[in-house]
Amino acid sequence: MNVPGNPLILAIESSCDDTSAAVLRGNRVLSNVVSSQEIHRKYGGVVPELASREHQKNIVPVVDVALREAGVTLNQLSAIAFTQGPGLMGSLLVGCNFAKSLSMALGLPLIAVNHMEAHVLAHFIQNDDGNALPELPMLCLTVSGGHTQIVLVKEGYSMEVVGTTIDDAAGEAFDKAAKVMGLPYPGGPLIDKLASEGDPYAFSFPVPQVPGLNYSFSGLKTSFLYLLRDRTEGNPSFMEERRNDLCASLQYAIADILLRKFRKAISMYEVKHIALAGGVSANSRLRKEIERLGEEMSCFVHVPPMQYCTDNAAMVGIAGLIRYQKGEFADIAVRPITRYENFPGTG
Ligand code: KG4
Ligand code: ZN
Repeated sequence: MNVPGNPLILAIESSCDDTSAAVLRGNRVLSNVVSSQEIHRKYGGVVPELASREHQKNIVPVVDVALREAGVTLNQLSAIAFTQGPGLMGSLLVGCNFAKSLSMALGLPLIAVNHMEAHVLAHFIQNDDGNALPELPMLCLTVSGGHTQIVLVKEGYSMEVVGTTIDDAAGEAFDKAAKVMGLPYPGGPLIDKLASEGDPYAFSFPVPQVPGLNYSFSGLKTSFLYLLRDRTEGNPSFMEERRNDLCASLQYAIADILLRKFRKAISMYEVKHIALAGGVSANSRLRKEIERLGEEMSCFVHVPPMQYCTDNAAMVGIAGLIRYQKGEFADIAVRPITRYENFPGTG
């Protein structure tokens, strides 16, 4: 087994439709292999039953490649970390059971990781380019396909969700709008691409009036739908003709809604470090706008490298390292958690 200060952790992520495995030595990533499931594209969204079957097919080869790329053998490992939740039960079970079997077979400690925490903690990975790690407290805007959260990360990495969505997530807004435009799943990356050729001011959408630091995206989704319906009535090729403008305007609206509340949170909590995390943090407009916000509010901005935006096991590995250092290990009877009632934080 490796020495405690600089452990070798094998991490596994299988919460949704990406099977991923990573090996970390301390806070450095030796390998991070992601196998994305193409099978869901034609269904316009993730089909849970298919996702778990794909994970079962992929998990052994993905772990194998991750170990090989890292140049590490199973008997050198210090611990196994895996995503406990939130996510799809069938998908989570594959990663959870695989990690449990491996930990039992090798006699290694097991670490259960919250996927949402892992997105935030990806900022604490030390890259070879010598990136400056965030200082705590930090506010993180975590935006993914299922979640939209403003997270306050305190000393000791304990986390508090200070704002969340009351209906759809930001990624869901991208994906649902893409679906009505006939674009394949997941829609976010494609909308981002088409938006680069469009006018963000072509169409405007109402800004939701939600109290405090919470979000709502269902109104935007509805007004986008109504706009398409009304304008297509007068011109059947409206959508084809204006697709890029529609994408650019929608992307502008989503980034604007996200950052208005985030700006408010920065003022309330007076933090000096801010960050972006989750799949939607790959969005080019959001990445640019948060840099601008950081300048305006005199904050250090932490934007994840592209490979750590969407789901990946490296982020599970760094979250696992933090738990490892605190001695927070899971029992072999640990089970997946599809939904957390309260965000547990790494306390
Ligand atoms: O974190 P993630 O990989 O999976 C979840 O935990 O949900 O996030 C996936 C979400 C999807 O909704 C996808 O459309 C969105 O991230 N996404 C983007 C971009 N890349 C991924 N949304 C907007 N712009 C992007 N470039
Ligand atoms: Zn995610």
